[in-house]
Amino acid sequence: MSEIPGLIRGLEGVIAAPTAICDLDGINGRLAYCGYDIADLCQHSTFEEVVALLWNGELPDRTTREALHAGLLGARAIPPELVSALRLYPRGANSMAALRAAVAQLGLYDAESEAIDASSLRQIAIRLTAAMPTIVAAHQRIQNGQDPIAPRADLGHAANFLFMLSGKVPAPGDARALDVSLILYAEHEMNASSFAARVAASTLSDMYSAVTAGIATIKGPLHGGAGEAVMRTLEEIGTPENVEPFATAALAARRRFMGFGHRVYKNGDPRATILRAMADEATARTGDRKWFEMSIRLHEVVYREKRLHPNVDFYSASLFAALGIPAELNVPIITIARIAGWTAQLFEQYGDNRIFRPRAAYVGAPARAIAPSTATT
Ligand code: COA
Repeated sequence: MSEIPGLIRGLEGVIAAPTAICDLDGINGRLAYCGYDIADLCQHSTFEEVVALLWNGELPDRTTREALHAGLLGARAIPPELVSALRLYPRGANSMAALRAAVAQLGLYDAESEAIDASSLRQIAIRLTAAMPTIVAAHQRIQNGQDPIAPRADLGHAANFLFMLSGKVPAPGDARALDVSLILYAEHEMNASSFAARVAASTLSDMYSAVTAGIATIKGPLHGGAGEAVMRTLEEIGTPENVEPFATAALAARRRFMGFGHRVYKNGDPRATILRAMADEATARTGDRKWFEMSIRLHEVVYREKRLHPNVDFYSASLFAALGIPAELNVPIITIARIAGWTAQLFEQYGDNRIFRPRAAYVGAPARAIAPSTATT
């Protein structure tokens, strides 16, 4: 079909909107938010500061930081009706399907949900960013037969999430590792989920709907869903010794390894380098290096055989495991970070909107009339 004039499969290389948020240089493997290199942000900032950067275009001063912190703290708790609903979700419900349903439902309890003026959008973005970690942790605990844990006001965004999951205040190193991971996942230009969210918003539908479209889209294994699939692959391989024979046979059979390759980064994903170093440190702290060492071996084999680099979802699998996070939460965690970028992009979309309405090339039957013998009336 590629010979159809004008057809660009997967919209590869198509520029769909201007943005002042994310600058992604796939050739040189560089990623920057509002001009700040991702490595600098990981070294010097917190996730909350990056949220302010993505939303305002500037790193926050003290007043802005404190105002955002207060706003997020005030919106961490979720409506009791939603907690009751989470208790009714089926046992074994897919963690992303549950998050998709719960975020859609959260909008029902927001009197401002349909508003799309700039000030209401900002309030909704705060509510979504603050409430999504609470939803993920509450659903996970309910699935495990435990009661949800209320958020703690004295903990930062990442530390509070780990606390709501386990009931234990995390070690500072673990909290910071998650905090940096959230920074790395916060935004990534016009990927499939940002595009989906923008398409929904471009019809002037509401922000909860747009974010629900984003969640539905990031869930897929070719996108954020790779985050869980990587760990499932490591579990399938089983042992470090099995990496080489498993991977060579699978690649010969044209198996696609999740966590490798990227539509834009063709010379390596800068986020993977940072996550690899953090996984190395975190697994050194726990002493359980199995998944990390298997990941290094798999990286070597896939690069040797296919010249494919790992992407952001590869080393985060062994990092999250070292933080005690179950694999089924890998994609929800990506999503509680990406809400920052989606909402920032939605501010842009609502602020300068044109409905997305591409065309399709018709390749079906030629124009024809209904034959009298097949007509029903
Ligand atoms: N494992 C094995 N082979 C892969 C691969 C992977 N993860 N990713 C790409 N390839 C191969 C394809 O099989 C294809 O080979 P071929 O030309 O011999 O058929 C070639 O590389 C190009 O693949 P294509 O799907 O056209 O590249 P893309 O730019 O459209 O795809 C991804 C980008 C991300 C969808 C793709 O690399 C992929 O499926 N990766 C795994 C999912 C993943 O990790 N997603 C998270 C992204 S952050």
